[in-house]
Amino acid sequence: MSQLKTPLIAPSILSADFANMGAEVDAVVRDGADWLHLDVMDGHFVPNMTFGPGMIAALRNRTDKPFDVHLMIDPADAFIEAFAKAGADHIHVHVENNPHVHRTLQHIRALGKKPGIAICPATPPEALEYVLDLVDIILVMTVNPGFGGQKFLESQLPKIRTLRQMADASGRDIRIGVDGGIDVTTASRATAAGADMMVAGTSIYGQDDYAAAITSLRQAGSL
Ligand code: DX5
Ligand code: ZN
Repeated sequence: MSQLKTPLIAPSILSADFANMGAEVDAVVRDGADWLHLDVMDGHFVPNMTFGPGMIAALRNRTDKPFDVHLMIDPADAFIEAFAKAGADHIHVHVENNPHVHRTLQHIRALGKKPGIAICPATPPEALEYVLDLVDIILVMTVNPGFGGQKFLESQLPKIRTLRQMADASGRDIRIGVDGGIDVTTASRATAAGADMMVAGTSIYGQDDYAAAITSLRQAGSL
């Protein structure tokens, strides 16, 4: 019998109660989160603002689970070290706003962190061709970045498939995460296309029972 392939689940604290963040992190860790996804927004690269390294450092002692930090900031380079120091384990930078993203990814690796590359809905998969040797994770945005609670963009499914082929052909162990609009319906479509990590904000923190929400997502996304 073939082994069930189960995606990793990374709750996004963007949809958590900001007045109660420590407890919100504890709750999803207790309830089965694999990673914690932390969305950093600057009001410039994306039309919303969240938090910076201070928040990440403050949450760091709540858990040993990997902190998956998604930087939606421009410029990002000047802040990489601060996020590494604050306790990020994975640092995602966007491919869209940095002509020297190759160097940025090397910098993240040199700091001992896992480099991730995030890609917006309008960006073709080929944009990642020359950084595949540098990344551990590809974060496919399945909504336009900036806000939680948006609708999953079905148009991104072929991109996930292409990136899965490119990642496999690279011979490196690269995870493909999906970020935005993931729920029990879209989870299975994303993993069938090749994703093996799912970020979920609303479909976890927007529910009363986080444990049930995480379990349902994991089951829905299992192949
Ligand atoms: C959007 C963020 C996402 C967001 C997803 O810019 O990158 O991580 O939290 O939220 P949901 O799961 O509600 O679409
Ligand atoms: Zn995100």
